[in-house]
Amino acid sequence: MKKIIAVDGPAGAGKSTVSKIVAARLGYTYIDTGAMYRAVALKVLESGKSVEAVTQDIEIKLDTSGKVFLDGREVTKEIRTPEVSRGASDVAKFGVVRKKLTELQREMAAQGSVIMDGRDIGTQVLPNADLKIFLTASVEERARRRFAELKEKNFAADFEQIKKEISLRDKQDSEREIAPLAKAEDAVLLDSTSLTIEQVVAEILRLAR
Ligand code: DC
Repeated sequence: MKKIIAVDGPAGAGKSTVSKIVAARLGYTYIDTGAMYRAVALKVLESGKSVEAVTQDIEIKLDTSGKVFLDGREVTKEIRTPEVSRGASDVAKFGVVRKKLTELQREMAAQGSVIMDGRDIGTQVLPNADLKIFLTASVEERARRRFAELKEKNFAADFEQIKKEISLRDKQDSEREIAPLAKAEDAVLLDSTSLTIEQVVAEILRLAR
């Protein structure tokens, strides 16, 4: 059985949805690294301080039920707004932020039996992971899923706007200088455009075993 699983891919590919299910089925811990970049962004937005100053004095904790804590305060919901999504992609360009979060992520993965998702897990954070997945889907399909999710929660949503925001985040995450979104050479490419969640989960479980 593979003890450390890395899942990377663009925004909205289904990484967190499938990683959570795989973690539950294997009895592994799921680590959402995007939530950590989001917490940094929230603190920058709320405090008005520089990214450098915030990074020097911040405590981020993820609990096993998926709750996110910023300096002891639960921010699980606050970090999911479009403003924080954009902010997370912005702070993720900074070397100081990446260094700090990468160290934290490696500590969290040290005991094994983890599935960690993000953008640079297979390439930078856990290059020795036992299994690496690069999960992607067409931008139309990713926008469609995000749109359906928002509609279900009764939030106002505009499909073209969502597609634009996803494309912008993809571009920014793939073109940044430090640890850009990229498929590790030894990662298995999974295109979920025409797959169900269960099909993706089944394929990852097969590869893990
Ligand atoms: O996975 P997510 O959408 O919650 O991530 C939010 C942003 O954080 C994403 O646009 C880029 C950044 N990120 C990153 O640079 N590296 C990671 N390992 C995870 C997220």
